Amino acid sequence: MVRFKVNGAQRSVDVDGGTPLLWVLRDDLKLTGTKFGCGIASCGACTVYVDGEPVRSCQTFAEDVEGASITTIEGLAGKEAEAIRAAWRELDVPQCGYCQSGQMMSAASLLSDTPKPTDDDIDVAMGGNVCRCATYHRIRAAIHRAADILEG
Ligand code: FES
Ligand code: FES
Repeated sequence: MVRFKVNGAQRSVDVDGGTPLLWVLRDDLKLTGTKFGCGIASCGACTVYVDGEPVRSCQTFAEDVEGASITTIEGLAGKEAEAIRAAWRELDVPQCGYCQSGQMMSAASLLSDTPKPTDDDIDVAMGGNVCRCATYHRIRAAIHRAADILEG
């Protein structure tokens, strides 16, 4: 049995400690906004926060998150998240959409740490999030737009 918080709610899940968090979230808790892309921590589609820090849930295991607080795209909240959502809609960022949960998790985390990121800041922070539809240009523009929204 592993116990942790997900999006503010206490959860207990009867899984082996070596089960990837991604499968706990998707299969046991039905939080399917977090996506499987590569399974080897190389694409970012599975990005969630553990105690506020972005991690790759495909290579984070149930036993690693005992007692932790996890945030998924379904529970992503706060002013950075709202600005990201607004900018993503305004600039029509997604194409197929598959990678976008992970992109938005990473982008909101970047804005929390760096409210006015440069292109280089964005490239570094977002470099681990792959988009097979190559929406990178719109993602970068939307992060700048979200920073402007936050600035008021
Ligand atoms: S599925 Fe986890 S990084 Fe690709
Ligand atoms: S929008 Fe299709 S993979 Fe990124």
